[in-house]
Amino acid sequence: MDGLDGLKAKYLTAVAQAAHEAALEEVRLAALGKKGEISALMGSLGKMEPDARKAAGAAMNLLKDEIDAALRAKKAALGDAALDERLRSEWLDVTLPGRPRRMGTIHPVSQVMEELTAIFADMGFAVAEGPQVESDWYNFDALNIPPEHPARQEHDTFFMHRAEGDNRPPHVLRTHTSPVQIRAMTEQGAPIRVIAPGRVYRMDMDQTHTPMFHQVEGLAIDRDISMANLKWTLEEFCRAFFEVPSVELRFRASHFPFTEPSAEVDIRCSWDGGQLKIGQGDKWMEILGSGMVHPKVLRAAGVNPDEWQGFAFGMGIDRIAMLKYGIPDLRAFFESDLRWLRHYGFAALDMPNLPGGLSR
Ligand code: PHE
Repeated sequence: MDGLDGLKAKYLTAVAQAAHEAALEEVRLAALGKKGEISALMGSLGKMEPDARKAAGAAMNLLKDEIDAALRAKKAALGDAALDERLRSEWLDVTLPGRPRRMGTIHPVSQVMEELTAIFADMGFAVAEGPQVESDWYNFDALNIPPEHPARQEHDTFFMHRAEGDNRPPHVLRTHTSPVQIRAMTEQGAPIRVIAPGRVYRMDMDQTHTPMFHQVEGLAIDRDISMANLKWTLEEFCRAFFEVPSVELRFRASHFPFTEPSAEVDIRCSWDGGQLKIGQGDKWMEILGSGMVHPKVLRAAGVNPDEWQGFAFGMGIDRIAMLKYGIPDLRAFFESDLRWLRHYGFAALDMPNLPGGLSR
């Protein structure tokens, strides 16, 4: 049958020319689909004489099988070609160096904690830690602040809940890092040299106060440590931290229940045209409280005050971060505003260290 040969040639050519799987499917539908040309021909068999039908039927089945086989072969070939193409275009050279991707930034408070840890480590201070939910004994009593002491009111303390019927004094959110003095001395005894950076809490909220803020406690106990050692340590720290050739500190007599004598410390600075400069000028900025550790505090922590003495200080981390990096509003520290973090934040993998330069 000439007609069948023509059809065969037509569809085999179409199969050969199909450039992708969708085109091939169109050829399949046109030939063998329900309404395809060959299907239609086979439908016409019913009207033929039995003998003719037999011969034509066999020929048509042969044709159908041939086209079907060609379609399948082409489909497999197209699939292989698509895979080859993907392998060619989607390769990845795993030996290439990584592409740097911005991962977010280090918060100025974290940066400053790393910086001051590096500076104090260089002076022989280890890092000590304590819990943020603290017993009132560690937060107050052991620091020579008995229950009736007015300093308890001044601390604007957050109290934790007690279970119904539990009449013990409630735990508190620590109001300062000073309880870590007690914990460190109780655990390690004397001599000891530690700093304790961390979060503290007071019920207070305005442009310069947030209910949570950060302090770093310093504690150095040995046989003959004096206020002179305190002064040198703080001056060394401030020079290194503010990255200036010299600083001037002013010690003002003050009072804390846990130190005797006590001093608040101011740093010389200037505010010219809204620009803060540390180390020169005619202004003073308070940055910390300090003093010689009270004998009662040593005794509460199991250290014999006849044998040991030393200094302690507590410094506001957020405050010195604002001073060093010119950040005007404390509240912005804790608003998690991405634009603020990108502006004031620090590169994630730059660990501050003294030889490398603290803040670069
Ligand atoms: N704990 C004091 C405060 O929160 C600071 C301080 C610490 C003062 C150590 C003296 C010695 O203000």
